[in-house]
Amino acid sequence: MNQNIKHIPVMTKELIDSLQIQDNGIYIDTTFGLGGHSIEILKKLGKNGKLYAIDKDLNSVLIGKKITDQRFCIIHDSFSKILNYAKSNKIVGKVDGILFDLGVSSLQIEDYKRGFSFKKNGPLDMRMNQTCGITASDWINKSDTKKIIFVLKKFGEERFAKKIAHEIKDYKRKKKIKETLELVNIIKKSIPIKNIFKHPARRTFQAIRIYINQELEEIQSALEDTLKILKPGGRITVISFHSLEDRIIKKFMTKHSTKAQIPCGMAITEKEIKKLKICKLKIINRLFPTYEEIQKNPRSRSSILRTAELKKYE
Ligand SMILES: C[S@@+](CC[C@H](N)C(=O)[O-])C[C@H]1O[C@@H](n2cnc3c(N)ncnc32)[C@H](O)[C@@H]1O
Repeated sequence: MNQNIKHIPVMTKELIDSLQIQDNGIYIDTTFGLGGHSIEILKKLGKNGKLYAIDKDLNSVLIGKKITDQRFCIIHDSFSKILNYAKSNKIVGKVDGILFDLGVSSLQIEDYKRGFSFKKNGPLDMRMNQTCGITASDWINKSDTKKIIFVLKKFGEERFAKKIAHEIKDYKRKKKIKETLELVNIIKKSIPIKNIFKHPARRTFQAIRIYINQELEEIQSALEDTLKILKPGGRITVISFHSLEDRIIKKFMTKHSTKAQIPCGMAITEKEIKKLKICKLKIINRLFPTYEEIQKNPRSRSSILRTAELKKYE
């Protein structure tokens, strides 16, 4: 692990303001990364506050373990296990705020050995959790063309999915794909248009990364669990980096904040009463990075921050 890699946290002020940190509150940072957001939360917390952190990347957890603050603890796991974690720490229904800062950290992107970067050569790995799961190389070598097309279309919205998948098939007849730049060269051969603003391998790498790490399923399941973990008035803030993620978050917040539409004067059925009761969230905000932040940290360009609050009644 390269100790010199820095990760500039995205929309930190907006995130801290959105969470409305309570002096002695309980918070969960589900995506610790290099701890940028966690450190800001700790600065705001009083001496009886508590911050629980999670990351599925062992390197991030090793960084977190160096924080010697009694109010802080970190575990190595997926955030889809957040409910188990909350149960074992006896904080179900007691948490003031939960934060998700999705995607990959600079620690992961800039370490060529992790295989996330399409700019540096390295083993085609892409697993966020280095201790389990299948590598991108193993997946691509064993998958058929149909499956590869499906993944590139669904998780990368790649227009040239078919061409890329057929080029991959031809290449695999001669040799297994083991390195990042091998895959980049295959993609470059398959894509006719050159967009000087976007790397041709960007969408394919995003798609494989999302698929390998089951990123969308992870978010989906963790979001639903936050409703059980938060206390009434507690807040959930999510920073996402692409439309596939943001769609899930928007849908989740809308679903739990929309009341059933009952026409005036119409008798309400049991089913409709139940529907009324599932309106659990109040949407607080949707924020974008400022122009100044984008200038300083281009990685923030595509980020969207959304916050919702668990309603106090019910
Ligand atoms: C964008 S970085 C977070 C950066 C962090 N907020 C900071 O200030 O340094 C995302 C982190 O979330 C972790 N991550 C992504 N998906 C995860 C999941 N399903 N469970 C646990 N950690 C996850 C990644 O390993 C990565 O370290």
